[in-house]
Amino acid sequence: MERLQIGNVTLENNLILAPMAGVTDLPFRIITEKFEPGLVCTEMVSSKALFFGDEKTKKLLKRDEETVPVSMQIFGSDPETMGFAAQYVSKLADIVDINMGCPAPKVVKNGDGSKLLLDLNKAEEIIKSVVKNSTKPVTLKFRKGWNDENIVACELAKIAEKCGVSAITIHGRTREEYYSGKADLDIIKTVKESVKIPVIGNGDIIDEESALRMFEYTGVDGIMIGRGAIGNPWIFEQIKYYLENNKKMSAPTNKEKYEIIKEQRKIATERNVTSLERYKLKPNSMQVRFITNLKNILQKDEKRALLISATGTGKTYASAFAMRELGFKRVLFIVHRASLAVQAKKSYQRVFGNSVSMGLVGAGYYEYDKDYVFATVETLNKDAHLQQYKVDDFDCIILVTTTKHCERK
Ligand SMILES: Cc1cc2nc3c(=O)[nH]c(=O)nc-3n(C[C@H](O)[C@H](O)[C@H](O)COP(=O)(O)O)c2cc1C
Repeated sequence: MERLQIGNVTLENNLILAPMAGVTDLPFRIITEKFEPGLVCTEMVSSKALFFGDEKTKKLLKRDEETVPVSMQIFGSDPETMGFAAQYVSKLADIVDINMGCPAPKVVKNGDGSKLLLDLNKAEEIIKSVVKNSTKPVTLKFRKGWNDENIVACELAKIAEKCGVSAITIHGRTREEYYSGKADLDIIKTVKESVKIPVIGNGDIIDEESALRMFEYTGVDGIMIGRGAIGNPWIFEQIKYYLENNKKMSAPTNKEKYEIIKEQRKIATERNVTSLERYKLKPNSMQVRFITNLKNILQKDEKRALLISATGTGKTYASAFAMRELGFKRVLFIVHRASLAVQAKKSYQRVFGNSVSMGLVGAGYYEYDKDYVFATVETLNKDAHLQQYKVDDFDCIILVTTTKHCERK
């Protein structure tokens, strides 16, 4: 495997775990590092939150016994605040990454993330401020543009290079595309050809073949893997083996996978990291009421009801991927309200694409035959048909408490 030089940091190889909010927390990174990526990235953190000393945000940046270099990602649109965040983060990180790709409405509405693709002057000011204030190499991660009428990837790559950025990551989609369609490898190739600093290609790498294709087609210096690593951290080891030996290593057994999941859970429990709060059920909380409700519906067979009270969509996606990896083919997602079931279905579709068939129960829809089915407790209560025997068809039931991350206005 080729090493990758980012400023004065040498990565052992050029396979990188993408930053993913709600997913790449400390326990997930520690687990992934066992499969030896060259670099791992934290979840994005708000520069404003750091500026105001928010404790929860600071906790997201906790490091512990990590065996590979860690990149910490900051987002924001005020150059001074971003400069402050760069100073703060560069004391903890090996690399400081700037986010100009996040499509989430709650980020974009403040002018942050991918919104900066519409204002390259502002983007340049931010990059300059971060480079000036960081004591560690700075990298920039962005999408190819806001929409098809605004493809700015090459221009932004050149600005970044001029301002002293040490490497860039390009996700081959526009903000408007969110996660739909296919990542555009042509734009990644063009970006690679337009700058001299290392270029990392990102988008739709899910296995050995797609990794090889990204390298061969675009000529990038490194690749970054996001969704393909959720519930599947061994992907790094698999890709490395394939690239080195031109054949595939065998996939971990379900038992091995289960052990890894248990270990991740153990690490999360042992360390007092923010994500722990996500695993805990608070007495009398809505989640507990929900679960009680659900148990009443399911009555006897509680084993099947593998309840994951996900309070962040990232965790929910992670658990959804994990369920599939563990061989649970049919999953029932329970959300609060009918409108949320529709939204949740759409959000999942955006992330999983056509690889999973999705159905909806309620408001006239009865799409039980799909792999992932979305419903509300109310619908289940009302629908005698589902109660009587359809619930038995599902391998697993996941409780979804929010779908905010991928909601669109
Ligand atoms: C649940 C989730 C959370 C994400 N959070 C971040 C983030 O915090 N920062 C960021 O730059 N990108 C984030 N992304 C985008 C990924 O880093 C990556 O660019 C995108 O998923 C495309 O790569 P992939 O096809 O390998 O998943 C997130 C993606 C997902 C699915």
